[in-house]
Amino acid sequence: MESSEFIKEKIGNFNPEIAIVLGSGLGELADEYTDIAIPYAEIPGFIKSTVKGHKGRLVFADIAGKKVVMMQGRNHFYEGHTLGEITYPIKVLKKLGVKTIILTNAAGAVNESFAPGDLMLITDHINCMGQNPLIGANDDTLGERFPDMTEIYKQDLLNIAKTCAKNLNINIKQGVYLANSGPSYETPAEIRMARLFGADAVGMSTVPEAIVANYCGLKVLGISCISNAASKAGGTALSHEEVIETTNKAKVKFKELILEIIKHI
Ligand code: HPA
Repeated sequence: MESSEFIKEKIGNFNPEIAIVLGSGLGELADEYTDIAIPYAEIPGFIKSTVKGHKGRLVFADIAGKKVVMMQGRNHFYEGHTLGEITYPIKVLKKLGVKTIILTNAAGAVNESFAPGDLMLITDHINCMGQNPLIGANDDTLGERFPDMTEIYKQDLLNIAKTCAKNLNINIKQGVYLANSGPSYETPAEIRMARLFGADAVGMSTVPEAIVANYCGLKVLGISCISNAASKAGGTALSHEEVIETTNKAKVKFKELILEIIKHI
């Protein structure tokens, strides 16, 4: 309540309906709309973002006639925060009146038909982080103790996103996103395991946020920017620089798609 009251004071009667969490290398979308920007560091209860390629602020903007709030940068489990801490902003977005949330990330391809630079709509996820963000006392005002997770990534949003991609001539993939804690990238054996599990892409974020968003009644759309082929025997070594570089190349397409989706939500 303290966090959302603080934000409401800054944004006045701007009532955001759509939230977007911008992942690694994808934060630039928010740079064009800096009228109302609040650094996480100023918001009571928020933690600062520390990862390279992440800015760490909330940006509020009118986009295509919609009231949008963007999280430019996110915090990660691998930085040493708890899942409760990193998903706290999602609960605050809910308190601000957000109805739909678009979660984005950079991810490694597990599906061998995916190539770096591809965009993938998340149809479902697998939580391999070894923890759940809802562990602890339940806040009944937000959601139930044992929330259903059958359709986190809403089919109507997936349909909108697919139509938008088609209209823009973007060849969009879809698949299952598997989250590991990181910060180490996967071994070849771990990628084979992810494939056996039914995953198409692998990353270190999004899943905790998706669980909490679904728990508190937000509709979720998830989009991965495939930044690399995940580890494979005989493949080249993977670096964070490569991940940022590829997402940078895909960001024009990504931006176009996001703007089109916002129009149609
Ligand atoms: N593995 C895990 N996280 C990632 C990757 C990957 O290959 N690429 C971008 N984030």
